[in-house]
Amino acid sequence: MKKGVKIFAPATIANVSCGFDVIGLALEEPGDEIILRKSQRMGVYIHKIHGADLSRDPDLNVAGVALKNFLRQLPNCKEGLEVEIFKNIQPGSGIGSSAASAAGAVVGANVLFGEPFTPIELVRFAMEGERLASGSAHADNVAPAIMGGFTLVRSYLPLDIIALHTPEELWATVLHPKIEIKTSEAREILKKKVLMNDAIRQWGNVGALVAGLYLEDYSLISRSLEDFIVEPIRSILIPAFQELKIECKASGALGGGISGSGPSVFMLSKGKEKARIIASRMDKIYAKLGVDYKIYLSPVNRQGVKWEFIN
Ligand code: HSE
Repeated sequence: MKKGVKIFAPATIANVSCGFDVIGLALEEPGDEIILRKSQRMGVYIHKIHGADLSRDPDLNVAGVALKNFLRQLPNCKEGLEVEIFKNIQPGSGIGSSAASAAGAVVGANVLFGEPFTPIELVRFAMEGERLASGSAHADNVAPAIMGGFTLVRSYLPLDIIALHTPEELWATVLHPKIEIKTSEAREILKKKVLMNDAIRQWGNVGALVAGLYLEDYSLISRSLEDFIVEPIRSILIPAFQELKIECKASGALGGGISGSGPSVFMLSKGKEKARIIASRMDKIYAKLGVDYKIYLSPVNRQGVKWEFIN
């Protein structure tokens, strides 16, 4: 049997409150696992998907689309790829499920083919998976999944992505209410125009968040985690959102908001102990709602996709 790679592709928090479509961060857990092997047959073959009911047709699967894109850009490629996917990140959860599969797949393929592409080129391939999943090729999940830590998309055209500094003690607590919010729909409900006053407050926060990360100034990070543009519209779809935000901040969270397009809600905190306290606060609020949910606790993942060779 041909040597393959086993991939761990992390969940991600896109937007990070004020940075709609431009800021994202990677988590240590949960993450999808992917096994990838080269094939003598050209093309992409998805043999099995465990843990989710998703299409194995490479044109209808985010990992398949990203890999086809990858292979198309490889000069004179006469080989293909065989894929098996273990979905540990539930699709539609708001923590970058589609991004993890697309990002993990292209990083794995890059390893198998001797690393012909740069991380930014891999982001570009994986973004095509996002286009399939949500109708928009946003990069704020796939970039941190591939590059690790916090990332900033300075520009989409041309694609310009910056890996930001990640403060040592930053932890995330994520509550995933088991309701479905489609990213495409959560994008459609947004206003197409932004008021100047909101824009001023928002870009002040984006700049300050980046400064707060570099300075490891947790108080500045805390003051920056406010979204005046997207959250007021999307938050009505999430049960007890305001209560979560108020209570978690009262329990010591630096701040937080909707993870990606939701329904997950994230809170950042300084240190694991605070993250634990916030998890138990979230648990108390949701236990009485009658909505099924899951809570994750994770430091920021600095490495992005992880991999190892297998036989
Ligand atoms: N930035 C995207 C959005 C992320 O909020 O629509 C989706 O995961």
